[in-house]
Amino acid sequence: MHHLLTLEDLDRAALTRLLDRAEHFRTHAAPRDLLAGRTVLTLFFEPSTRTRTSFVLAAKRLGADNVNFDLSRSSTVKGESLLDTLHTLEAMRLDALVVRHNENGMPAYLARHANTGVAVVNAGDGTHAHPTQGLLDALTIRQRHPDFANLRIAICGDIRHSRVTRSDVRALHTLGVGDIRLCAPRAMLPESLDAFPGCTASEDFDAALADVDVVMMLRIQKERMAAAQFPEAADYHAHYGLDARRLALAKPDCQVLHPGPINRGIEIAPDVADGPQSRILDQVANGVVVRMAVLAELLATPA
Ligand code: NCD
Repeated sequence: MHHLLTLEDLDRAALTRLLDRAEHFRTHAAPRDLLAGRTVLTLFFEPSTRTRTSFVLAAKRLGADNVNFDLSRSSTVKGESLLDTLHTLEAMRLDALVVRHNENGMPAYLARHANTGVAVVNAGDGTHAHPTQGLLDALTIRQRHPDFANLRIAICGDIRHSRVTRSDVRALHTLGVGDIRLCAPRAMLPESLDAFPGCTASEDFDAALADVDVVMMLRIQKERMAAAQFPEAADYHAHYGLDARRLALAKPDCQVLHPGPINRGIEIAPDVADGPQSRILDQVANGVVVRMAVLAELLATPA
């Protein structure tokens, strides 16, 4: 593995190895010098709380140097092209470039045009992929359900614009989950299920929740839709919000996931987000160790 751009090329063994490594970092002291002398640059063209911070912490916990590229103060605001920015940064000797961009495929484009051996990690590109989120969600689920076969999983919300769902589905399908139910109002369902192997789609949230082991809720990605498409918040919550009544339709120990940021009272009721079945903060904690595993896999020279 030289870059991490999507989860599409990772088979079950490769995914399992990354999850095992992340779990090891969670339960053992981090080897503080594993990435000593390596430099990881985080380059985010879209806002981020969890993803950026956890990549920074992951790099630091393994002893790498981290540079957080401050776009608002950089020459991209003076019109420097992305490739000129890439080559300028590469000339300073980087080992990894963690990039988030609103255009699908931009991390792959940078990986193709890199002059040096820099490893490119996709931290979310448009609606296309968010591979480390797919890994951390799989890890969070695996901590309660070590066997992915026979799991029933519902994913509800703005699927159409969700790079998280695309990467989650890749990971979960490859790991053996056979029943993945996508649920949303029609305007938020994807036009085709080609990028969603092993999934069914419906508009009926109550039906989709029947006997699921895991439900993942998603934010409405207003930044990726026209204002006219925004649903009315109260109406959306009535049909697609996860509240205590709906959660009771799932299995009694159903885990509730959400990649964040959450919009309380819209896609999820506060008592569910903060309730005993919520794994939302476990996902955040797992995000750090998954990103440690990815950086270790890409950058640590084998002994
Ligand atoms: C997601 C993203 O940016 O794709 N957030 C995240 O990385 N945890 C989902 C979202 O923004 O709704």
